[in-house]
Amino acid sequence: MVRPETPKGVVLVLMPIGRDAATVAKLIERAGLRPVVCNTLQEVIENLEWVIEVVVVAEEALYGNNARVLEDWVGRQPPWSDQPFVVLTNRNEGGKFAAFRRELVIRLRNVGFLERPLQAITLQATVLSAERARRRQYQTRAYLEAQRGASAELERLVAERTADLERANSQLREEIAGRERAQAALLQAQKIEALGQLVGGVAHDFNNLLMAVIGNLDLLSKKLGEDARLHRLLDGAMEGARRGATLTQRLLAFARKQELKAQATDVRSLVEDMIGLIDRSVGPMVRIELHAEDNMPVVDVDPNQLEMALLNLAVNARDAMITGGVLTIGLSEQIVDIDDQLGVQPGRYVVLSVRDTGEGMDAQTLARAVEPFFSTKGVGKGTGLGLSMVFGLAQQSGGALRLESTPSSGTTARLWLPVASETSPPSGRAPNIVTQASAPAKILFVDDDLLIAGSTVDLLEDLGHQVIEAHSAIEALRLLESGLAADLLITDHAMPGMTGIELAREVRRQYPRLPILLATGFAELEGSEVVDVARLAKPYTQAQLATEIAHLLPNGRDGF
Ligand SMILES: Nc1ncnc2c1ncn2[C@@H]1O[C@H](COP(=O)(O)OP(=O)(O)OP(=O)(O)O)[C@@H](O)[C@H]1O
Ligand SMILES: [Mg+2]
Repeated sequence: MVRPETPKGVVLVLMPIGRDAATVAKLIERAGLRPVVCNTLQEVIENLEWVIEVVVVAEEALYGNNARVLEDWVGRQPPWSDQPFVVLTNRNEGGKFAAFRRELVIRLRNVGFLERPLQAITLQATVLSAERARRRQYQTRAYLEAQRGASAELERLVAERTADLERANSQLREEIAGRERAQAALLQAQKIEALGQLVGGVAHDFNNLLMAVIGNLDLLSKKLGEDARLHRLLDGAMEGARRGATLTQRLLAFARKQELKAQATDVRSLVEDMIGLIDRSVGPMVRIELHAEDNMPVVDVDPNQLEMALLNLAVNARDAMITGGVLTIGLSEQIVDIDDQLGVQPGRYVVLSVRDTGEGMDAQTLARAVEPFFSTKGVGKGTGLGLSMVFGLAQQSGGALRLESTPSSGTTARLWLPVASETSPPSGRAPNIVTQASAPAKILFVDDDLLIAGSTVDLLEDLGHQVIEAHSAIEALRLLESGLAADLLITDHAMPGMTGIELAREVRRQYPRLPILLATGFAELEGSEVVDVARLAKPYTQAQLATEIAHLLPNGRDGF
């Protein structure tokens, strides 16, 4: 049998009769090819399974049905193959032979006929040309195989890339969803921020107006005499103004512009102290449970505002549980690390949670719950400022408010409060200063708002003080420079040009012994600006004003 990797072209020779096979083989060998002589057609077919260039076969070997076997093999060839046969004929011109040869062409397809006796050159040229044609077929096969391999590789690459793309795509989808969530949260935060700006500005102006109203009502009440009916009218007006002031305080709280007196506060004892009040507020249908971890660290927060926030949350819980339920107040310590989505600085927090088993909120209500004036409680029942206040307090204290709610199963509000640093002021409420009348003093009063200035001057004069008015910081400094011997400086903060803080700083430098009282409508005091001076939150009553002055001028002063 022939080895497949034969470098020379293999030519099968089948000439079973006589000694022609040896002669033909020799001629083929001389042409540079490698003849393999077969004795039967079966042997030829077996050898055809290897790499064979040409088959030289004597016509008589194919007579009868013999060609059929070859025909089967020819029919099974792959598409690239068209095996060349060289058939050596006898000079026999009869019609029978002609028909036989036509038949051969159909059966074996690629057939060349050479008539015997052969000329050496004719045989060699024919076999060589057939061999070249056959080699080209093998080249085509190699090319096709390479192409098949390449396309399989291509398919594998395409599949790989498709999987890669699929992965990248789903990652992208996830990222887009994440970005959309973040964007929605940002939008919500921006909306609240814009609302805060708006509300803060309006509340500040209202606060100033209320300042004038309360101040003048205060004075009026003293001058009214004994008429009880007039006093009732005045009390009504005063009550209205006070409620207005409470409202503006809550608005300022939402806008993060209230004066916070943050101090190291033990939330657990604050909550425990409030349980009685909460119990009375929520009524007998609601059971209260307190779950607090032991050894809670103290937090940095304004305790009065925190009490207010807790009460707001408790009242909301009560309103959501009209047929009764359980109000659970929880206290736990939590560490926030950088990856946290809370929007607070990494660090230690105490989380105060207020959970109810009430009606809960749908997604739309939940999304708007902290907006100021958003309420579902009907006219006169809710102002929609409870959660706004809690939100503002949380933000301004460096914490966060999170609400979770499921309709008809309940709501949990979580208030994150930063654990106090070691430098936080110690806990304990500021002692109540006993109101005491101070000796008449000379007071330099600075406010750019004529309405407020007028009413405060009246209040001060009514307390027996002598008041010198200035309408700007510059004017006040000029008065001091010109030798005004004041006992006390009372100044507004938000003024065009030089602010109250800047004035206080300058006065401190030049007249260190002159006491200063800073009246502020809101905490617009940036950290770097803070000067350690007494503060008075607007709107103030005459009594509050008197208390602060008494505190600053305990024994009366004779100027400095
Ligand atoms: N615990 C709760 N369960 C169900 N809904 C709540 C809860 N807390 C708040 N809400 C919803 O959020 C809205 C806003 O609450 P928020 O406390 O700000 O205002 P309010 O309670 O309506 O009025 P206010 O507190 O000023 O009296 C409520 O009207 C209510 O629809
Ligand atoms: Mg409320």
